[in-house]
Amino acid sequence: MNFIYNNKVKILSRKEVAPNIFLIKLSAPSVAQEALPGQFIHIKCSKDNYPLLRRPLSIHRIDKEKGEIFILFQAVGEGTKILADRTIGDDLDITGPIGNGFNIYPESRKIMIVGGGIGVAPLLALGEESIRQGKEVRVLISALKKELVIGEESFKILGAKVDVATDDGSYQFKGLVTDLLERIIKEGWLADQIFACGPKPMLKKISEITLPANINYQVSMEERMACGIGACLGCVCKIKTKDKRKYRVKYEYKRVCIDGPVFPGNEVVWDD
Ligand SMILES: Cc1cc2nc3c(=O)[nH]c(=O)nc-3n(C[C@H](O)[C@H](O)[C@H](O)COP(=O)(O)OP(=O)(O)OC[C@H]3O[C@@H](n4cnc5c(N)ncnc54)[C@H](O)[C@@H]3O)c2cc1C
Ligand code: FES
Repeated sequence: MNFIYNNKVKILSRKEVAPNIFLIKLSAPSVAQEALPGQFIHIKCSKDNYPLLRRPLSIHRIDKEKGEIFILFQAVGEGTKILADRTIGDDLDITGPIGNGFNIYPESRKIMIVGGGIGVAPLLALGEESIRQGKEVRVLISALKKELVIGEESFKILGAKVDVATDDGSYQFKGLVTDLLERIIKEGWLADQIFACGPKPMLKKISEITLPANINYQVSMEERMACGIGACLGCVCKIKTKDKRKYRVKYEYKRVCIDGPVFPGNEVVWDD
C-alpha cells in the first residue's frame, strides 16, 4: 500500500476545454514530485463540508520541474459541478497521489493509447512518459461528436500519432474506436502494450481484441469511491487470478483505490 499524502494546493488556471469539461492547473510541488502516470488525487470539492466525500480525479499531466499537475474532468454531479466553479487562486484540499499507475515495460517499442470520452484524462501523462522513454506512441480518441473530442492537440504536441473516432461521423472515423483499433491492427501496426480508459463496453471489447493477439493490456478503472484509502471496500472490482497449486481460475475482489486504478485488462471480469 502506498503512503497517502494530504495536501493544500492552489488553483493556477481553469479553462472549459469542451462543453462541461474543465482543465484545471494546480500548484502542487510535492504531488508533482511523487506522481506517476495513472495515479489519481482525491479532492474535497467545496470550501465547506458538503459534499462530505472527496471525489477521485486522475492526474492528467505532471510537470515535475514547475511543481504543477493538471486535472481534466467532466462536471457530472454535485461534487464536480462545485469543483468546476472554484476560481483561480483558491486553495484545494487533496489527498494523493493515490494508486498504482501504469506499467510501461522497458522492452516495449510501440505503445497504443485508447481514450473513450473523458477517459483520456489519465492517459496524457502516460503518453508524455512513453515518449520521454523513446517509445513510438499512437493514440485513439473517441467521442460522441466533434465538439466533444478532447486531448487531440495535447497528444499531437507530444509527438504521438492521433486518430479520432466519432459516433456520428462529424470528425474523422465514423463509428466505434474499437473498430478503428481492429483496422489498425489488421493493417499491421501491432502495439507491444495497449493502455485504455473509458466506458466499460469499450474496455471489454479491447480485451477481446488483445487477448488472442497476446498484447499486454492495462486499463484504468473507474468505480464509485468513498474512503479512497482502502478501508470501506466500496470500490471493488472482480479480477481473475490463477490458483497456482490447482491451475484453476479463481476470482478476487480488488479495491480500485489502492490495488488499482490500473489493472491487467485481460484479468478484469467485465460481465459481473
Ligand atoms: C480512479 C478514478 C479516476 C477518475 N478520474 C476522472 C477524471 O480524471 N475525470 C473525470 O471527469 N472523472 C474521473 N473519474 C470519475 C469521477 O470521480 C466522478 O465523475 C465524480 O466522482 C462524480 O462526482 P459528482 O459529485 O460530480 O457526481 P455524483 O453526484 O456523485 O454522480 C453523478 C453521476 O456520475 C456517476 N458517477 C459518480 N462517480 C462515478 C465514477 N467513479 N465512475 C463513473 N461514474 C460515476 C454517478 O453514477 C451519477 O450518474 C474518476 C473516477 C475514479 C474512480
Ligand atoms: S474507496 Fe474505500 S476501499 Fe476504495
